[in-house]
Amino acid sequence: MGFNLISGSQEWFRKGVKAQRLMKFNFCHCTVAPLCRYAIFISFAGKLNLSFEMETVVSGIRSTGNLHLGNYFGAVKNFLKMQKENNCFFFIADYHALTTHPKPDDLHGNIKQVLAEYLACGIDPEISTVFIQSDIPEVTELYLLLNMNAYVGELERTTSFKEKIRNQPDNINAGLLTYPVLMAADIIIHKANKVPVGKDQEQHLEMTRKFARRFNTLYGVNYFPEPDAYNFGKALIKIPGLDGSGKMGKSEGNGIFLADTPGEIRKKVMKAVTDTGPTVQNQPLSEPVKNLFTIMNAVSDPSTVKYFRDKYASCEIRYGELKKQLGEDIVKFTDPIRARINDILADNKFLAKVATEGAEKARASASKTIKEVREIIGYKGFS
Ligand code: TRP
Repeated sequence: MGFNLISGSQEWFRKGVKAQRLMKFNFCHCTVAPLCRYAIFISFAGKLNLSFEMETVVSGIRSTGNLHLGNYFGAVKNFLKMQKENNCFFFIADYHALTTHPKPDDLHGNIKQVLAEYLACGIDPEISTVFIQSDIPEVTELYLLLNMNAYVGELERTTSFKEKIRNQPDNINAGLLTYPVLMAADIIIHKANKVPVGKDQEQHLEMTRKFARRFNTLYGVNYFPEPDAYNFGKALIKIPGLDGSGKMGKSEGNGIFLADTPGEIRKKVMKAVTDTGPTVQNQPLSEPVKNLFTIMNAVSDPSTVKYFRDKYASCEIRYGELKKQLGEDIVKFTDPIRARINDILADNKFLAKVATEGAEKARASASKTIKEVREIIGYKGFS
């Protein structure tokens, strides 16, 4: 590789940055301008024929409803950080959405909405691979192949499956049973190392690792990496609902959606559950009030949080005032996102371009895996 930064693509640039960090190279005291430093480093790395692989991240979100504040602070915000340092695949799990039998128009509308929301939040299709699961037929092939070494017993014992049996007893379809296999296919088809998911998906990820390991053992290869859950430890913020307990959810009716209008947001916050107020100084917070402070911590200025904490501590708090402020701060936070969501939703050309280019990139990665997997399994030509 020569000393030419222009022909050194953005990819190389990022690899250089990562590698520099990985190898703890310290160019900080170097007096040359930052760009030159990278050029020197990349050139140097190329001469030594070093190859650096960024880690691969895969995460999907089911297209079953609008994104809410909990999705934003618990997942999407971290995706934004990850996309700068990893080879990221973010997709819309619209095959998984079929397990609950959506109507065709709803299915399409939801896919479009979630795609627009991803983009409005700042997931950058120029950096990450953003795509729709059903645009990648290779995933269904790997799903079929993995199904051959997934056992009915272990699938029946999955917590999410047992829950579904309880919640939708009239529709216990085989897609529900094999949901973890499809999820494993989504992940290992790109040979992911890291999967940012919430607690509720940890068992699915454990099964993904099991299926990957089983494939490797069955065929005596070291082909699929076993991906780790990536949950950011303390950085992961769980946003509670407005109903006094539990986390914010899509279906619990306790959520504030990124696409909600200011009027809807104010109304929801004013209706949030509180308590009768503190009666002694520095009284511990009740669960519903703690929840409001947690949301406030995420969206408001620290001085606002301090103001209300002090008022609470001295028993002078008026929950009406707190809710009013919280409502305004949420509106201030979501307003620009909602504006972008609406702009993007109105721009079908842009959405089509993102989906097409994302599918191309995802298929390039997926078809390479499928080709190799077919060979490993023993599907060969006659030449
Ligand atoms: N099962 C995930 C959920 O319900 C969505 C999903 C599907 C996913 N495939 C995935 C998440 C692959 C991470 C990686 O939230």
